[in-house]
Amino acid sequence: MYYCVNCGYKSVKWLGKCPLCEGWETFVEEKEEDKSNLVVKEKTKPKLLKEFKGQPIERFKTNFEEFDNILGGGLVNGEVILVGGEPGVGKSTLLLEIAMRLSLLDKTLYVSAEESLEQLTLRSRRIKYDYSNLYILGEDNLDLVYEHIKEENFKFVIIDSIQVVYSKKYDGIKGSANQIRGCADFLVQIAKTHNVVIFIVGHVTKEGIIAGPKLLEHIVDCVLYFEGESLSNYRILRTTKNRFGPSGDIAVFEMTSDGLKELKTTDDIFLPHREKFLSGSAITCVLEGTRPVLIELQALVSRASFGVVRRRSLGFDFNRFSLLVAIIEKRLKISIASEDIFLNVAGGLKIDDPAADLAALVSILLSLKEKEIKMDTVFIGEIGLSGEIRHISNINLRLKEIVRAKFNFCIIPFSNLKEVDKKFDLNIIGYSNIKEVFEHICK
Ligand code: TYD
Ligand code: MG
Repeated sequence: MYYCVNCGYKSVKWLGKCPLCEGWETFVEEKEEDKSNLVVKEKTKPKLLKEFKGQPIERFKTNFEEFDNILGGGLVNGEVILVGGEPGVGKSTLLLEIAMRLSLLDKTLYVSAEESLEQLTLRSRRIKYDYSNLYILGEDNLDLVYEHIKEENFKFVIIDSIQVVYSKKYDGIKGSANQIRGCADFLVQIAKTHNVVIFIVGHVTKEGIIAGPKLLEHIVDCVLYFEGESLSNYRILRTTKNRFGPSGDIAVFEMTSDGLKELKTTDDIFLPHREKFLSGSAITCVLEGTRPVLIELQALVSRASFGVVRRRSLGFDFNRFSLLVAIIEKRLKISIASEDIFLNVAGGLKIDDPAADLAALVSILLSLKEKEIKMDTVFIGEIGLSGEIRHISNINLRLKEIVRAKFNFCIIPFSNLKEVDKKFDLNIIGYSNIKEVFEHICK
């Protein structure tokens, strides 16, 4: 068989382009062998669902509060967690801190296959936390790591990273798709049979073309992505899959000179211009999983100096952005065909909640009209092609966050008005069309 190292698509013959992920030259050959019984297990029997009690889920807390929250309250016995991210974003730093915290609960092993133990020691000194109980191991042979786990009864194991470990049981060189998938499978079997919690680090590059995380997502219980702009100190940890809790939630960290610090509130990063008068900015409240996040959108509209206009969006889906520009032209009858338009999400967050549409539209309009407004209003609403403001989900959750951050006004879709809890100390205005919003901000 041949399969795609990027997405795992299988084919009986070699293909130049993957029909699933559309990657070029991503197919490698694999010999099919059954490697599913590497760890000795007991024979299983079918059970009646209504009689099955199972064991109550016990949660291990790292006391990194935000981290525990996005996992759904802590780690679960036998859980396998994949931590993906670009090289240098801080995965090793994050996991070393987590390992230190976990070592206070039970025996913890940090397997550093990528860096030397000296490098690891240097890093551990920067992080000012108790690490007297943490074991480290410089080993890239997983078969030997397995021996150590069995002998020493480690409860928490960190594998840094999956791209540089190998097992003799699988063909292929280190880092090949076959090794990566095999090793991950091996680790999952270890976790489930010995009740060990295992963290797997996986590198992801900007292009996403690597044999790694994408291939592993369906094997593991929980997938965390660590992201951040290279020049900013803020890092966002996002769950994209979670079998033991909600997915889509985010935790925000700051990279300091002595390790990562978690941030309880994101207002300082995502709302840089509170209470100021500004033209070209609007605040919205998006949902990241179950967490409402207030965020500032900034737009810049300026006359194009050459024939070709430039349109860019950073952190905001480009197709939605183009749609909004077309809606402004057509529904508000404002000519912006010859303007350069740039849209940016403050703080480097990537948002995909359609509730941010209204704020994006307002920021573009404000920049175009060079009108300043006081940044004490939050705009939420999805915009439809005819310029209508559409119903959005979880309005009360968002309003609660807006009240917490002490905003004075909030503009929401008219159809959401009837669900709003009466108790909020906030001026809430419902509009059903962008024309009304345009009049509101330009009055
Ligand atoms: P690292 O955890 O090595 O990234 P990854 O494992 O994802 O490749 O983090 C690398 C960056 O973090 C590096 O540029 C140095 C920086 N850093 C700090 O700013 N403060 C610290 O306390 C530590 C340990 C690292
Ligand atoms: Mg690393």
